[in-house]
Amino acid sequence: MAKRKLVAGNWKMNPPTLGKAEALARAVVEATRGDAAVDVLVIPPAPFLGAVGAALHGSAVALGAQNLHPDRGGAYTGEVAGSMLHDLGVRYVLCGHSERRQLFGESPALVGAKVAAAHRDRLVPILCVGETLDERDQGVTDTVVLGQLEQGLAGLDTAVIAETVIAYEPVWAIGTGRNATPEQAQAVHRVIRDWLRRQVGDLADELRVLYGGSVKPANAAELMAEPDIDGALVGGASLEAAGFGAIVRAAG
Ligand code: 13P
Repeated sequence: MAKRKLVAGNWKMNPPTLGKAEALARAVVEATRGDAAVDVLVIPPAPFLGAVGAALHGSAVALGAQNLHPDRGGAYTGEVAGSMLHDLGVRYVLCGHSERRQLFGESPALVGAKVAAAHRDRLVPILCVGETLDERDQGVTDTVVLGQLEQGLAGLDTAVIAETVIAYEPVWAIGTGRNATPEQAQAVHRVIRDWLRRQVGDLADELRVLYGGSVKPANAAELMAEPDIDGALVGGASLEAAGFGAIVRAAG
């Protein structure tokens, strides 16, 4: 069976109010109805997870979270544990988004701990990797991305690695309007797939490797036509339901 593509909308710290978040969730359900061949996921801010989950109830759109703390509980003011997310109906969680790494100082080891905690708490981690423009210009893209993969998946059994989603998000393409070309993205996705094959053998073909970075309706189809691109992690364009629906259709 061919693997299903996954299109995820990372809302980041948007929209500003609960009412708008619920309205966006309902609009996404409408805009993606009937696209049964593609898995669809929305990833709202943590305070809106319960209400957005309720708005998605009965639809095929899944719920994801943007972050988790690796521990099960304790004195961690402001943090959220995986078990709490799971109980809200969350199925996926982003780990190591470049904004978390760059703006909030998340180390590779912490990202790895989050990936392991997500699996422990029955969430599917979406491990985000990607190089900065400087790193690309220096020709070290592959080294950077594979280093992030290695540290993000450290210590996990083969079967657990196979249940992880990877998102390749070149930092220079995030929020800039400048997406990687399909050829640039495919080249890195191939490197990721080959590395995964060395870890998990043929299960590498079942793993979904998403592309993220300025995905929009106009470029989604050509990106997702590449053989190793298994879906998209969409930021800005996921805040507008019709456009997000168009991206989902492009994946289907
Ligand atoms: P943009 O689609 O806004 O470039 O954001 C990509 C992203 O960071 C998704 O996680």
